[in-house]
Amino acid sequence: MNDAPIGIFDSGVGGLTVARAIRAQLPRESFVYIGDTAHSPYGPKPIADVRRYSLEVLDTLVDQGVKMLVIACNTASSAMLRDARERYDVPVVEVIGPAVRRAISTTRNGRIGVIGTVGTIGSRAYQDMLEVNENLAVFAAACPRFVEFVEAGITDTPEVLRVAEEYLAPLRDADVDTLVLGCTHYPFLRGAIGYVMGEGVSLVSSDDETAGDVYRQLVRGDLLASADASPNYVYEATGASADDFTALANRLMGQEVRGVRLVQTGVIDLPHLKEIP
Ligand code: DGL
Repeated sequence: MNDAPIGIFDSGVGGLTVARAIRAQLPRESFVYIGDTAHSPYGPKPIADVRRYSLEVLDTLVDQGVKMLVIACNTASSAMLRDARERYDVPVVEVIGPAVRRAISTTRNGRIGVIGTVGTIGSRAYQDMLEVNENLAVFAAACPRFVEFVEAGITDTPEVLRVAEEYLAPLRDADVDTLVLGCTHYPFLRGAIGYVMGEGVSLVSSDDETAGDVYRQLVRGDLLASADASPNYVYEATGASADDFTALANRLMGQEVRGVRLVQTGVIDLPHLKEIP
């Protein structure tokens, strides 16, 4: 048993979809969530920068005594998952593997679409994992404006639908029957994405699947919160305004984020951590 919080992070509000799923599956667990809003969006940035920002956030979470790290960001998972697993003593859960497993068990015609940020799609993290199976045909598309929409709190306007149509038409034409939402911001646009792809296409997102992985790792590591634990949720952001993050998180999540505190990453000296060259 371990009542320490789980550390969860994303570049912004996208990882809240994963935090929400963890809370639903593990209602006694506490968490600390960091949105790295000072460096958001990660998608268009060089992989080396995303790797550095992400490790700085994870260092900050480890310094706060978390018992597990959840990289609730596909771009960061593609950029630094192996580094993170080597660097920290606590278990590290990411979002790509769980979504890949679900996509494989969902598809009926073997044609899978993947959408994500420029960084995630360019890294080929999804394509490489899926294409190990020669019976699968994978079609990938970067959808950079989707994160901009979500970070602006815009999820259901005609403009969202128009842009979704533009990005997704090639995948629909490729006759995919399963579409992986390979960015944790995208579940907030599920309505538009589902509408454009049509009812025959199953949408797979990382949130529930990743929460399932968190559950398994907590059980296997004997890290579950004790039976009488009451959960505590802490929300932090690295950007200039805690109020902006609070307002946006509440708009997207339904008034559950009561307060956000600002933190600065990249300033902590943790001599016990292994240097990543
Ligand atoms: N939510 C993130 C992801 O899953 C990052 C989006 C971004 O910052 O560009 O990739």
